[in-house]
Amino acid sequence: MKKSLIRQIFEGAPGDSINFALGEPVFEQPKWFINLFNPKILNNYAYTPNAGLPKAREAVNKINDYPNDIENICLTCGAEEGLFASISGAKLFLNEQKNELLIPSPYFLTYPMVAKIVGLKMNTYPIPPFCNGSITESIENNINSKTGMIILNTPANPSGLMLSENEIKKVEKLCADKNILLIIDEVYRFFGNRETPVSHNWNDIGSHSILVSSLTKNYGLPGLRLGWAYTKHNVINKIIAAHQSIAAITSSISQQLVEQFPNNDYKNWLEVNRNKTIKNRELMKSELKENGIEFVDSEGAFYVLFKVPTEIMEKMTDVDFAFHLKDDHKILTVPGSAFGEYSTGYMRLSCGGLSKDFKEGIKRIRDGIDSIKKGM
Ligand SMILES: Cc1ncc(COP(=O)(O)O)c(C=O)c1O
Repeated sequence: MKKSLIRQIFEGAPGDSINFALGEPVFEQPKWFINLFNPKILNNYAYTPNAGLPKAREAVNKINDYPNDIENICLTCGAEEGLFASISGAKLFLNEQKNELLIPSPYFLTYPMVAKIVGLKMNTYPIPPFCNGSITESIENNINSKTGMIILNTPANPSGLMLSENEIKKVEKLCADKNILLIIDEVYRFFGNRETPVSHNWNDIGSHSILVSSLTKNYGLPGLRLGWAYTKHNVINKIIAAHQSIAAITSSISQQLVEQFPNNDYKNWLEVNRNKTIKNRELMKSELKENGIEFVDSEGAFYVLFKVPTEIMEKMTDVDFAFHLKDDHKILTVPGSAFGEYSTGYMRLSCGGLSKDFKEGIKRIRDGIDSIKKGM
């Protein structure tokens, strides 16, 4: 239902609309990457091992600074399937008494959807700034004896929350102490405001952590469907078993492409994308500030949640407001209620696109707010 709401917002949008709804980055590809599209390099069309070609797994460990142990990683069809295979694998691993999944709220829409598909009971925990106290306290307050797995998303979609290494370590310790599997969705890992462009020192991964990510956001390559799940926990065997039944393998062409990353300047590519994303995010926030629109201070990913004024929320839902912005002001946004109760009354803006539209787009939002206020 929630997914079709986002689709409805796209459908029938006027041609000259500005799109702040799409969670997709716009990056350029370096020459070395384009040159890989060569039959001398991409020539294996066969099934690969289910977890992926050994060299491709080695390359993914290398570009993420994960330990170099290829038996602990499974390549998947994007982070989307990485999440699906991890949650399914964890379900196969856990006993019936531990069948509840605890997810952050506001959340990425896939989390509740996968819980529903695989038949897990799902609970949510509010994340800063939507909770009182720290994220660890919020998780602790929402764990019960049946909690078998928890999802942590940092930097987060849609809020832009970014956790410090210390905060992640505390959650990892809590999960290890309580024997709960922790799925860390880090697809926006390199897009945080912190000085070090990573959210964690991965040489010291928690014993119960499963790291899920992909080439999608950081390199702007969603179409390759190259993602992964890395864990030191022996749940990895169940994750590979689940992946085998969901997708069998991820594309051998994408695997051969990623094999080549460590031989090329992938670090510079990441740095360019990271700098552009941080710049875009800061620009969008300053446009919101200039236009007197309240927002949640995003520190990571490429999203900003702005607050719909209370007077407007008293008259209509955030979904109505999204359609008003689309139909009358040609600006596409996603209503926060799509991401759960805590972000209801907020609208998600994506700043992954072209910054040339930011000034005009935020002005249209200001006009959209003012036009409703005028009619009150
Ligand atoms: C938080 C989060 N996790 C996972 C994904 C899925 O990424 P992929 O395209 O690699 O499947 C997305 C995509 O928007 C996301 O925002």
